[in-house]
Amino acid sequence: MQFRDLGAQYKVLKTEIDAGIHEVIDSSAFILGKTVTELENMLAEYVGRKYCIGCANGTDALQLALMIWGVGPGDAIFTSDFTYFASAGTASILGATPVLVDIDLETFNISPEALEKAIQKVLAEGKLKPKAIVPVDLFGQPADFTMILPIAEKYGLKVLEDGAQGFGGSLNGRRACSFGDMSTTSFFPAKPLGCYGDGGAIFTDDAEVDARLRSLRAQGKSSVDKYDNREIGMNSRLDTLQAAILIPKFKAFVEYELDAVNRVANWYTQRLKDMFVTPIVPEGFYSSWAQYTILMDSRDERYVMQKYLKTQGIPSMVYYPRGLHKQEAYRWMNLDDSDYPNTIEATSRVLSLPMHPYLTEDDVDTVVKTMMKGR
Ligand SMILES: Cc1ncc(COP(=O)(O)O)c(C=O)c1O
Repeated sequence: MQFRDLGAQYKVLKTEIDAGIHEVIDSSAFILGKTVTELENMLAEYVGRKYCIGCANGTDALQLALMIWGVGPGDAIFTSDFTYFASAGTASILGATPVLVDIDLETFNISPEALEKAIQKVLAEGKLKPKAIVPVDLFGQPADFTMILPIAEKYGLKVLEDGAQGFGGSLNGRRACSFGDMSTTSFFPAKPLGCYGDGGAIFTDDAEVDARLRSLRAQGKSSVDKYDNREIGMNSRLDTLQAAILIPKFKAFVEYELDAVNRVANWYTQRLKDMFVTPIVPEGFYSSWAQYTILMDSRDERYVMQKYLKTQGIPSMVYYPRGLHKQEAYRWMNLDDSDYPNTIEATSRVLSLPMHPYLTEDDVDTVVKTMMKGR
């Protein structure tokens, strides 16, 4: 069994994907061009934003967005402690300071209460200027924007939604990648909408920001002359071959894959809910199930289970084994475990199970029966 079966998906979509790849090669138009524009337009319309700007990966997407606001030394960027490193690392690489915030243990997303306390603490200390919040849509479920957006407004902060895992999710009918001032996503192969390499995108409703992002992803060039550089930018374009691969994948994602992963999640939850803490999708939220993650009783129980599953050919993953405050790269911040009780719980107990749209009910039964034996 595969953790995320990209081969099964390719079998279904092979004709369209291969045709898209060959069209790009036949045209020799490898950099940007109509295929990238077509994809950008489809994605913007789907999430409900005016503009989508493709770029090289989800990390660059975050960095480019922060560059738009001139984020740099002295700025505090608030983000979740329980996420992939890029959510915070992109602030650091620009010289800003990530302020890591504990999570809500039910949803694994940033805790709005802890967020407000962290903002107040930074203000009281007076060393850093609170600049932006980067809420992460972890495991496919949007962060709690109904709480986060009013906090951002109260303190005059920008909001950059890290939707790398959230594409396809929604909150009260509004799609992920449409919240806050800007949003980003990643097309890393294992993401809800993944390509066959690296890719990412930024979403905005602001025409000026759209134009600047198109410039910043290409060395800060002017819109008419590639060799007229107006500001310091990156080389971070979405590869045209990846865009060609994403177009048929996006159609499948919308037509049936999103429904399929939700069906798989329900099968798991029905069978596992009396044995483990299964994922909670609160009223109004809809997940794109980047991961199906349960909480085991303890680190030891997880260790034994993961080992047993492996012997039975069932892959499982620990996303994430440590909070960002425990990363060596952030040791200099001297952050204390006592400020992150929920991250500590999550990192000790989470276990992610195989999850993708091509899992059958029999596959889920196999995983569950094996877990029952492995207990
Ligand atoms: C929450 C989150 N943010 C950012 C990223 C970065 O995306 P990429 O790997 O495309 O650079 C990822 C993906 O790995 C992620 O999971």
